[in-house]
Amino acid sequence: VPENRDRIVVVGAGHAAGQLVASLRGEGFAGDITLIGEEPVHPYQRPPLSKQYLAGELSGDRLLFRPADFYRKNAVQIRLGCRAIGIDRDARTVTLEGGERIGYSGLALATGARVRPLPVEGHDLAGVFYLRTIDDVNRIRARLETARAVVIIGGGFIGLEVAAVMAKLGKRVTVLEMQDRLMPRVVSPTVSEFYREAHARHGVRVVTGAQVSALAGTNGEVRAVACAGGEECAADLVVIGIGVIPNTVLAQSAGLACDNGIVVDEFASTSDPRVVAAGDCTNHPSAWAGRRLRLESVQNALDQSKIAAATLCDKRRPYREVPWFWSDQYDLKLQMVGLSQGFDREIVRGAIGEGRFSVFYFRGERLLAVDSISRPADHMVSRRLLGAGVAVTPEQAGDPDFELKSLL
Ligand code: APR
Repeated sequence: VPENRDRIVVVGAGHAAGQLVASLRGEGFAGDITLIGEEPVHPYQRPPLSKQYLAGELSGDRLLFRPADFYRKNAVQIRLGCRAIGIDRDARTVTLEGGERIGYSGLALATGARVRPLPVEGHDLAGVFYLRTIDDVNRIRARLETARAVVIIGGGFIGLEVAAVMAKLGKRVTVLEMQDRLMPRVVSPTVSEFYREAHARHGVRVVTGAQVSALAGTNGEVRAVACAGGEECAADLVVIGIGVIPNTVLAQSAGLACDNGIVVDEFASTSDPRVVAAGDCTNHPSAWAGRRLRLESVQNALDQSKIAAATLCDKRRPYREVPWFWSDQYDLKLQMVGLSQGFDREIVRGAIGEGRFSVFYFRGERLLAVDSISRPADHMVSRRLLGAGVAVTPEQAGDPDFELKSLL
């Protein structure tokens, strides 16, 4: 049986895993740490992949979460290009592809999420891509040199950020969104409509209510995207961004409770007290929201990892952060805090026509969320207001002369 005393094994190599190892050392953990990552690269930041990195404005080493020698300096054994395929919770070991077993005293699962596949004919043609990893973007960039007509399937964050980059690069761009508006998962119709117009101004054709039925090709190369109803959209490059699925297979096969993500408590503990989980793969109880949440965000990856590391060091601190997100499209900075689902009133602060405004979402008297477009100060103050549970009235929110800061 492998040595399993005083060693924490972290499975995953994204934002959550990177933060976990940093926080373990920050909390004073002096034992061994082993990080197991499937991709052949050190933990890196994904958000720039669909923005500056795709645009060619950022080099690969600038993506790294920490410089590579951070792991050496902190005595973190890092196993890259390496898949964990099993967990034996009784023996306290993780099995790697190839059969090697690593013992642990504590285990952290930061397995993230994978792209939702588009189950249509032609999805495997050359020129069709998903966008989740640095390798995906390198392959898209290689194709970009010759591609002219770009079709994007999915009008969420990934699809629209890619559309903005492609339009700036002078490509002919079409976005095919299944729902009746853009970014329906996160923003309200007011914000969706603003972004539809912004994309139209940049020459991007947005089709909502689109039902992609097949991808058509010639000689194995994509040529067009076909929609139900017979419409065909010429394409020599297709990017699919139709959401993600939490990676729970490893946790599930080890018998850990999973339900739309690995089920954790407010201390990031799974149903096994020796095992924590953090980031996109988890489903946690949010005291703030009053219900369980599965969040796909950098904020959640970082904040929950700090809690998970503390738990592994027997310093239990509950996770209480308010969720926040962002998306960059053209020169528009979209920043979101809170969760607007279920709002019954929205108040606009600033001028939509000038492209600088915030939307405050209320349910009854309670402020649920704020979406800010190129009003970073509104976003920052809203994060503090929501975090502290300070009451804001619709009148205060809508009055641009009222100093929201004065409520803090
Ligand atoms: N055809 C067209 N659109 C579809 C289809 C389909 N078959 N299926 C889903 N969609 C749409 C959804 O309606 C949604 O608007 O794709 C969009 C997916 O948006 P997101 O859920 O935001 O996912 P995505 O843009 O892929 O981003 C993936 O990366 O940036 C992060 O936070 C983001 O975690 C998310 C992840």
